[in-house]
Amino acid sequence: QRVLPVPAMGLVVLVGVSGSGKSTFAARHFLPTQVVSSDAYRGVVSDDENDQSATGDAFDLVHRIVGKRLRRGLLTVVDATNVQREDRGQLVRLAKEHDVPASAIVLDASDGLVRERTRLRTDRDIEPDALARQQHDLSRGRAQLDKEGFRRVHVLDADEAGTAVVELEP
Ligand code: CTP
Ligand code: MG
Repeated sequence: QRVLPVPAMGLVVLVGVSGSGKSTFAARHFLPTQVVSSDAYRGVVSDDENDQSATGDAFDLVHRIVGKRLRRGLLTVVDATNVQREDRGQLVRLAKEHDVPASAIVLDASDGLVRERTRLRTDRDIEPDALARQQHDLSRGRAQLDKEGFRRVHVLDADEAGTAVVELEP
């Protein structure tokens, strides 16, 4: 069983393609108020969590809320794919601006499992092309991820993600 040290006062950046299990993992380990989800804010600004045209507005809100929470010293988890280095970079900068550590948790489910979960999902319709693009983006930045300014980078396969425990560290 993996034990994941996570900064008690800091930022946790979930990383993983659609269907990798980010929201499931977040719900299992963190309070609903600790989790800031790009999909939820897409819904807030468009009435449709899948409306990609709402992405910019949704992330404006995500970053604002993350900033407010970090200023108050609250553990904050970003539930978004974060497969692009620039997206992770913005979050690492936000943590640095507030003088708190950021850690990344990469949900690294196999492509086959992700495809199967996607097929079974009723809450979302994900284009195979979009999924392939996310997988490509993530694989491109994988090797350098531990040089992006995170205090720790935890990479979990699907089994580990199901059994890991989070341990808050000072
Ligand atoms: N799932 C599962 N077993 C797990 C994790 C997830 O069966 N250990 C299922 C969920 O019930 C869901 C699907 O796989 O139907 C996707 O999981 P989710 O946590 O929603 O994935 P996300 O990474 O949050 O996907 P998205 O980026 O699309 O929000
Ligand atoms: Mg999700």
